[in-house]
Amino acid sequence: MTEKLNIGIVGAGYWGPNLIRNFSSLPQCHVKTVCDLDKDKLEQIKDLFPQIDTTTDYRDLTEDTEIHAIAIASPVRTHFPLAKESLLAGKHTLTEKPMASSPAECRELIEISESRNLLLMVDHTFIYSSAVRMIKEIVASGDIGELIYISSKRLNLGLFQKDINVTWDLAPHDLSIILYVMGTAPVSVNCQGKAHFNPEIEDVTNMSLEFPNGGFATIHNSWIDPNKVRTMTFVGSKKMIVYDDMEPLEKIKVYDKRVEPPPHHDPFAEFHYSYGDVYSPYLNQVEPLRSLCRKFLECTQCQCRSETSGLEALQVVQILEAATLSLKSQGCNVGINWEAGLSDDFPGLIKKECSRCNWRTLG
Ligand SMILES: NC(=O)c1ccc[n+]([C@@H]2O[C@H](COP(=O)([O-])OP(=O)(O)OC[C@H]3O[C@@H](n4cnc5c(N)ncnc54)[C@H](O)[C@@H]3O)[C@@H](O)[C@H]2O)c1
Repeated sequence: MTEKLNIGIVGAGYWGPNLIRNFSSLPQCHVKTVCDLDKDKLEQIKDLFPQIDTTTDYRDLTEDTEIHAIAIASPVRTHFPLAKESLLAGKHTLTEKPMASSPAECRELIEISESRNLLLMVDHTFIYSSAVRMIKEIVASGDIGELIYISSKRLNLGLFQKDINVTWDLAPHDLSIILYVMGTAPVSVNCQGKAHFNPEIEDVTNMSLEFPNGGFATIHNSWIDPNKVRTMTFVGSKKMIVYDDMEPLEKIKVYDKRVEPPPHHDPFAEFHYSYGDVYSPYLNQVEPLRSLCRKFLECTQCQCRSETSGLEALQVVQILEAATLSLKSQGCNVGINWEAGLSDDFPGLIKKECSRCNWRTLG
């Protein structure tokens, strides 16, 4: 392999140019070719990056022996066929989130990448943000006590997607952060939502996740909110963390606040609310996508797994699949049997008895 890793990027719509810009800024790699079906998008790329070749034919990436890796930033339904073609052509592969449209597709990609010793990584961008790293560190240190629950809100006006609902579009970010911080996967999922504009494509959803240790998380996603909101609250038994990604500097605030229940032998005693200091830890702000691109390049060299490998991304898609089943059955509780895994017809999902619909346990 030459010293620099040659990379091809497919998809030059809204997000692809961010990958092109970040990979182009790293000295360890060279963005050789960008592919998009839309010639106008390619012209815009050529204006900004005249040294990059452009093409509308994906085979110009997969069949180019000088290209070592391919990054995929096309619509979600195309991730699987494009990533499979990339891996079968022997290229290290980075896909956008979510990795694919079903757990079965994710598993197939993981198997191909492992059998050919190729890197498969997924752009769960926030895992590479200094804010999320700091939150994981604080939680792991035990400083906030036991993590009781996480509440996440990711809302904005648009952009409406045509092939996926708002959960598949936005919740991969919330889920990847929650799994990373909790260090464990949920045992069951509930999800409710409404499609107000495009039939069958929910534009507002509420998901809740139950964890084996009693932990709990909620995720609210919307494309029909007047404000762009990116907040997560991590409630511990001793302290609480508020993460507001819209804040330019003080993205994290740690509140020395807690609820102290009265002694159990005194049923008439009041709850106590303890208030202390608030502090905002220093964060070394680097664009998370730049850190992710650098990590991708490092992993192609040292052959180690990243924090957002195919396996972590599969977990996210399994939860999205369970949430979809819950959405389609009036928000009933869907258990996830991680050992059995999932396939397209959901045999790995355990639907518990639900008072709102007629589902019973399946497996
Ligand atoms: N990590 C993040 O924070 C983040 C943010 C936004 C979007 N995304 C992800 O990026 C991906 C793209 O989203 P977007 O908002 O940029 O979409 P987009 O519609 O703006 O762009 C997609 C581009 O892919 C092109 N395309 C479609 N099929 C193709 C094919 N077969 N071959 C070549 N080009 C093809 C389209 O012409 C379009 O230019 C999605 O997976 C989305 O989830 C990630």
